[in-house]
Amino acid sequence: MSKDTVLLSAEQHGIAARLVATGGVVVFATETVYGLGANAYDDAACRAIFAAKGRPVDNPCIVHILDETCLDEVIVGADEITRALFSVFSPGPLTVVGEKHPSIAPAATGGLGTVAVRIPAHPSARSILRAAGVPIAAPSANRSGKPSPTTFRAAIEAMRGRVDAIIDGGACSVGLESTVVTTDSGCVRILRPGAITAEMIRDRLGVRVEFSYGAASHVSPGTRHPHYRPDARVLAVERAEIGATIARARREAWTQPAPGAGIGVIVLGDEPSLSSSGASLMGEASESLTATVAVFPTVEAMAAGLYESLLEFDRRGCSVVIVEMPPPYGLGTAVRDRLSRAAGIE
Ligand code: TXA
Ligand code: MG
Repeated sequence: MSKDTVLLSAEQHGIAARLVATGGVVVFATETVYGLGANAYDDAACRAIFAAKGRPVDNPCIVHILDETCLDEVIVGADEITRALFSVFSPGPLTVVGEKHPSIAPAATGGLGTVAVRIPAHPSARSILRAAGVPIAAPSANRSGKPSPTTFRAAIEAMRGRVDAIIDGGACSVGLESTVVTTDSGCVRILRPGAITAEMIRDRLGVRVEFSYGAASHVSPGTRHPHYRPDARVLAVERAEIGATIARARREAWTQPAPGAGIGVIVLGDEPSLSSSGASLMGEASESLTATVAVFPTVEAMAAGLYESLLEFDRRGCSVVIVEMPPPYGLGTAVRDRLSRAAGIE
């Protein structure tokens, strides 16, 4: 596939919207990750999304709308909890599954009778939605199986030559895909963890929250396929295991065709705490191999920079990336979910 892809600057959202309205496929920023969007009413345009991504056709897209007044145009009979979720958390990184409105193209939902709907907060996505005047079906703009792009550069690397246009929306502030939920009989079920956490939903809505993701679940169709994997091998470990893991990666690197190919390390914590608790680890890594270390001060910063760090380590030709798993609560749950998949240990 080789298309002429137009690169648009942030203020050219009118052009992006016109392309969407006339059946094109456009990559644009949301607050979570870049999306690969087409008119959700246009079946041929939605099929083109799958071709651009190399995505299995049974993996449904998220349909993006401008605000709650559009909800009944995409979901039939949205229940009270669905409405409450949108009114409390949207616009923002939350996606709710409901019964698909017949006007949504079958290709957008992979032939399912349900549809996943999100109201994005990013000004670029909102300007395009407003000007296009149609719901936009958009999966993340990565090639199938790879980490999602969270910068204009990464979006171009993933999709140039495969789509009609890519519009610059800067770096995505959240950095991980939205939380995906379904609602049933008074309860919210999380199909994919994200920045809207179980704790937040419980606190704000006072509802029961259940979990259906990870190895135990086959409910969310997209979670069956390999995901978030850079070219480098990802080793996702608890903090205490980082030193031993670097040592192991070092030993294994000797036996690889390109000995000395760099090791990438992604950790939490500020520089001082690293140099006290991790001095030997960094020293060991630098002894005979290049280790490039990305340090994030908070889990939020790690989430925002995780995919870009993984892609940057690929650009540098790292053969292994060792990543510290954050603690398993709040946003840490979503980061751990993505890291487990990137490492193939779901
Ligand atoms: O943050 C995001 O959600 C980004 C931006 C672009 O909005 N989009 C995104 O789309 O991550 P995608 O296609 O990469 O992931 C969509 C997820 C998949 O896990 C898919 O299985 C699930 O949502 N999903 C979509 N439709 C569904 C449905 N009808 N029932 C259950 N899960 C659904
Ligand atoms: Mg995706």
